[in-house]
Amino acid sequence: MPDKLDIGTVQSLRVDVLTETGWFDDTRFRQDMADGGGSEQSQYRIAWAAENAGGYAALLTVTLSDGDQRRILLDTGWNNDWMDYVFARHGVDRMLERGEIDFMVLSHWHLDHFWGIESTLKHNPQLKVYAPSTWRSEDRALLKERTSIEVQDRDKRTVSICRNTVPHEGELILTEMRGEDGSGVYRLLPGVALRLFDVSMLLQVRGENALYVNVADKGIVTVTGCGHAGIMNLLGFARDSLAGPGLYGCYGGLHLSIFDTWKPEFDSIIDDIKALGMTKMGCNHCTGWMWAEKAASHGVPIIKGTDAYLGYPKRSTAARDSHAFLGNGDSVTF
Ligand SMILES: [Fe+2]
Ligand SMILES: [Fe+2]
Repeated sequence: MPDKLDIGTVQSLRVDVLTETGWFDDTRFRQDMADGGGSEQSQYRIAWAAENAGGYAALLTVTLSDGDQRRILLDTGWNNDWMDYVFARHGVDRMLERGEIDFMVLSHWHLDHFWGIESTLKHNPQLKVYAPSTWRSEDRALLKERTSIEVQDRDKRTVSICRNTVPHEGELILTEMRGEDGSGVYRLLPGVALRLFDVSMLLQVRGENALYVNVADKGIVTVTGCGHAGIMNLLGFARDSLAGPGLYGCYGGLHLSIFDTWKPEFDSIIDDIKALGMTKMGCNHCTGWMWAEKAASHGVPIIKGTDAYLGYPKRSTAARDSHAFLGNGDSVTF
């Protein structure tokens, strides 16, 4: 068996949940998708309700082994008004303007992770961006050109569903499965690697980047946007391919009981994750509250959230008071 990849180590990783609410009302989201042609339709052909759009984004603060701190923006949300609010609330707008964020990682091209791109670029169009090479022409236009994409709504009115007036001018690294040098990963910082998983998902989107952070003396932390490649595949890569003292934790969307529907395999995923022996699991977004609550009650080390999300002007209709999600405004340190 080939040697495991040594990506180096960091002292610590802090994740601030800027926003994990991709949208606010599951029923409305599903209705818009059904009206627009279903889950196999292009996301750019559906008349999504603007008032239902939120977004996913997280701020990662990495303390390197020499004590230096670096910041990574993971994803840029969906609704520009929501993202402007979220970035101002967390000071991300000023960090972008001052060059205090090293780069953005786009996990994948789904609307709730990418369509808020103007909210990031208007503060720093030169920002270095890592994004999956599996993009479509509309993705490229929204990132690189002044664009407004329009569709007809159910009343046959023409509506803009996404727009960007600040084209990206900085370095763009389109990630591929082979990695930067055939190793399968991109080394973003000492102790931080990125890997593309080439997987097809809803709404004609393909490919998702996952981040791996090796925290000294603790182990690997896997950070996801939606986890469309399957959480066991993402964690399995860390276990099988990366050198380190084992798996320490994970953060992000795990794409399990989304829309609160249960499948039998979700029970075995709880058992499989327990068997990995991780220490800290922070989840939210498309994980599904049902799965997070059940996992917590079956001994998975779910990091509980707080009431911070109640201080945001909007919240998800799926949110419950069990604190099984790390919600908007929460943070976790690995
Ligand atoms: Fe998502
Ligand atoms: Fe997604």
